[in-house]
Amino acid sequence: MATERTLAILKPDCVRKNLIGEVIRRIQEAGFTILGLRLTRLTKAQAEGFYAVHKGKPFFEELTTFMSSGPCVPVALEKENAIADFRTLIGATNPDEADEGTIRSDFADSIGENIVHGSDSVANGEIEINYFFDQATLVANER
Ligand code: CMP
Repeated sequence: MATERTLAILKPDCVRKNLIGEVIRRIQEAGFTILGLRLTRLTKAQAEGFYAVHKGKPFFEELTTFMSSGPCVPVALEKENAIADFRTLIGATNPDEADEGTIRSDFADSIGENIVHGSDSVANGEIEINYFFDQATLVANER
């Protein structure tokens, strides 16, 4: 298995519910190394840029309004098999379909407000990490 990077975003619902600590705890317990971590509030335009791949879909307006509705926490993560393992940790996009014990099953209210984002491929992980972090900072934070 290869070492991979993924971008997590602890979404505005996660921050509002005071779950930053609990979600980070689960991420670390699952063996991910944190290479970058920020608290930031996306503008609507930044949310639209980040989710540009979903432009034109029926939920795009709702998604980008929600993602710019309050602070969020982008986290750059590294681990063997990070993309698949992170998606296992968080569960299915729709919390009603997420396996028991996953972050979304335990904490998410709906498919739109689902606590946490995870990259869906290695290539997208790199693109998404670069949206929030300087590569030099990530390298400096390697263990
Ligand atoms: P995320 O992993 O951040 O990637 C895209 C997001 O779009 C997804 O999580 C969901 O929160 C959101 N999304 C996907 N499908 C729907 C939908 N049918 N209605 C509302 N939001 C959706």
